[in-house]
Amino acid sequence: MQATIALLPGDGIGPEVTAAAELVLRTVGDRFGHTFTMTSHTVGGAALRAGRPPLPDETRAACLAADAVLLGAVGDPAFDRGSSEGRPETALLQLRRTLGVFANLRPARVWPGLEDGGAFKADRVAGADMLIVRELTGGIYYGEPRGMADDRRSAFNTMRYTRPEIERIAEIAFESASARRSRVTSVDKANVLETSRLWREVVTEVGARYPNVTLDHQYVDACALLLATNPKQFDVVLSGNLFGDILSDEAGAVVGSLGLLPSAGIGGRGGLFEPVHGSAPTLAGRDAANPIGAIASAAMLLRHALGAHAEADAVERAIGSALAAGHRTADLVTARGRVPVSGSAMAGEIAARVKDGASPEA
Ligand code: IPM
Ligand code: MN
Repeated sequence: MQATIALLPGDGIGPEVTAAAELVLRTVGDRFGHTFTMTSHTVGGAALRAGRPPLPDETRAACLAADAVLLGAVGDPAFDRGSSEGRPETALLQLRRTLGVFANLRPARVWPGLEDGGAFKADRVAGADMLIVRELTGGIYYGEPRGMADDRRSAFNTMRYTRPEIERIAEIAFESASARRSRVTSVDKANVLETSRLWREVVTEVGARYPNVTLDHQYVDACALLLATNPKQFDVVLSGNLFGDILSDEAGAVVGSLGLLPSAGIGGRGGLFEPVHGSAPTLAGRDAANPIGAIASAAMLLRHALGAHAEADAVERAIGSALAAGHRTADLVTARGRVPVSGSAMAGEIAARVKDGASPEA
């Protein structure tokens, strides 16, 4: 197979974790006989620092031309005070829209051996395995009108969803659930918001076409609590853009570290693959960041953008095997006396297992 992959390292720990994912993709290419042409492009704060807009035209063009895009992170405290046009995050919002990737798949599962790695009780979280299906190109992130009054005494955003936008993301959730444990939990705030009432109505209509999938609805506040107290009950969690953003960080706490979580933006052109964590500026440049979120995003890229299922499975097995062998980056170290490995060492462990074809237990 021949494929072009646009790499957008971006800001903070983005370049480190992108390099880790690139190493693993090259290893996959070697082992399976594929040619991946990978080119890097500037985005976010890195672009702003070079005097460019957050999403330069040539970066946009390269992403549109590629078979898939892998992004590290955007976000830079140096640009925290600017308006939307001058912020690193704007690049990502524009890119999601440009590519039309309306569905964001955010799988979150507790890897064997990491049950006691996080803030929650091991017996509560052991075996938790969910897929957050987050709407990615609508809702309050994009709704107009939006703005800040000149005197900065008020500001406003608009949460808006149309029927077709809700229908298509709901279909992705029900299709995903059909291939999993056949449960969809739809998240909204229908006791307060009109957009949520429409959301609930449309999701219920779509759900009627999937009689084998059980649907329930949760208010987002209750869902946040249940995620912390009983995460095992969740299979597919369907949510709008803002609620999905918030709940997926909480899922990071459930699985032990936000650094573990990958995501796939699908439904549009190619696909946009990005770890769920951000740029973590305080961690940057120390080779301490966990590369698993980015590497698992590369696995999702192989599966969803390139249809390379055996290759994606091989990467996920390699991650599980490296963790089972006891390798832990600093974010995952809880046991006293256990020495954390660097991000690049973790990437090396995973790449070596991809090369050897690690079995699940190895
Ligand atoms: C995420 C991030 C982004 C989002 C930011 C960086 C714009 O938090 O992908 O979860 O809010 O979507
Ligand atoms: Mn987020």
